[in-house]
Amino acid sequence: MPLPETAHGESSIDRKLVNKLTEEQMARFREHTPTSAEYFDRARKVMPGGVPSSFQLNDPWPVYIDRGRGALVWDVDGSEYVDFHNGFGVMCVGHANPVIGEAVKARHDEGTHFAAPTSGSVVSAENLVERFGLPQWRFSNSGTESTMSAIHLARGATERDLIVKIEGSYDGHHDAVMVSCYPELDELGPRESPNPIPFGHGYPQAVVELTRPVPFNDAEVLEGLLKEYESQVAGLIIEPAMMNINIIPPKDGYLERVRELCTEHGVKLIFDEVKTGATISYGGATQRFGVEPDMICLAKAICGGYPGGAIGMTAELGEIIASDKVHQIGTFNGNPLVMAAAEATLTQVLTPDAYEKLEATNDALKARCQEVIDRYGLPAYAQGLGAKGCVIFSGEPIYEYRDYLTKVDGELSTLAWLYHMNHGIFMTPGVEEEWTLSIAHEQEHIDRYVAAFEAFASDVGGG
Ligand SMILES: Cc1ncc(COP(=O)(O)O)c(C=O)c1O
Repeated sequence: MPLPETAHGESSIDRKLVNKLTEEQMARFREHTPTSAEYFDRARKVMPGGVPSSFQLNDPWPVYIDRGRGALVWDVDGSEYVDFHNGFGVMCVGHANPVIGEAVKARHDEGTHFAAPTSGSVVSAENLVERFGLPQWRFSNSGTESTMSAIHLARGATERDLIVKIEGSYDGHHDAVMVSCYPELDELGPRESPNPIPFGHGYPQAVVELTRPVPFNDAEVLEGLLKEYESQVAGLIIEPAMMNINIIPPKDGYLERVRELCTEHGVKLIFDEVKTGATISYGGATQRFGVEPDMICLAKAICGGYPGGAIGMTAELGEIIASDKVHQIGTFNGNPLVMAAAEATLTQVLTPDAYEKLEATNDALKARCQEVIDRYGLPAYAQGLGAKGCVIFSGEPIYEYRDYLTKVDGELSTLAWLYHMNHGIFMTPGVEEEWTLSIAHEQEHIDRYVAAFEAFASDVGGG
């Protein structure tokens, strides 16, 4: 489990049964991952927790991966899985994609780094303009760098200090947004004015106080806060559809009202599309929901498996960067190898047709999961957009973090994860994540997912 267990809901499923099945499945998991256990022993001597990033932590140990191809991955024990984790939503292009491989190999032979612009960054920026509508783009090395630059730009453009973010959202690991990511129930404070809670230690309280959380899907609370802090808020950073507490789409009219309020109060609207960007439609959430922000943060799927990000902005904001009033900088920004991968991903692989296929495959998977849920009477529902989906273990729809915290059955979600991992489905560890499909996912892969889910459903639902 990469994060503190935050979903505390308890569904109607008998706890004794959940605990018994969890023990059984955990024993099975240990049995089929002995080499991962050996790697773990070795790795934790040289890496804290045995992993390169804390999001890769997992109970009892992480599954160490050997290789991947198309929709499949193999772990160091040689077990094959269909990959629905897809590198936390990066690998929509499928593993070892030959088009991207060719582009990267060709670029390698012509030199991989100059810290001077190459054509790949120009073509990629042109493509992002076409997809997302915003006219100016810069590149970064990760989602964290993208949201960090966007916040610098919001503050620099407005000469204001406060940032508003959504309670229960994760927007990267720099100080301004490591606030109220996964706060505990007793820390939350009133819903109309939630407490800003640092996500772990290492963030000065003075900095934490500059970020104010608000609940998702509630424009009235946002309006109240913007009035209370009139002329002090630089920017609002928001995932247009929340994707780090399962998937929560925006309610009808919510994003439109958020746009209006930001304009009214002179607040820069930043869409964190690190997860949604290249996955839920050709033009991400911006296109899908038809609301244009002042800035868009991208990373993950846009570079086809290479570490890169991007920040889109209005012409006015672009001028602030061009004039160097706000410094958006980095040795590896627009690295030629990453840009070659981005260009191939954006222009050749994740085409409008690819999004049609991803959506159709996802719709089929969601429908089949829902059918299993209904047949076994599980307290759950299937949710998803574009290439992303999940089963949410709550008997009623969730609309914001406080719902997630109190209604989602975390233990049942963890048990479902174990069933998937023990039935050849590689899934994101943790309660809060979702599946990501790639263009390599076909009917047979969906069948395997549904079979694993049904094994779980029949054991817990008694069917
Ligand atoms: C919505 C969102 N924003 C930002 C980030 C940070 O991206 P990165 O891990 O590339 O720094 C993430 C990572 O999961 C994310 O989900």
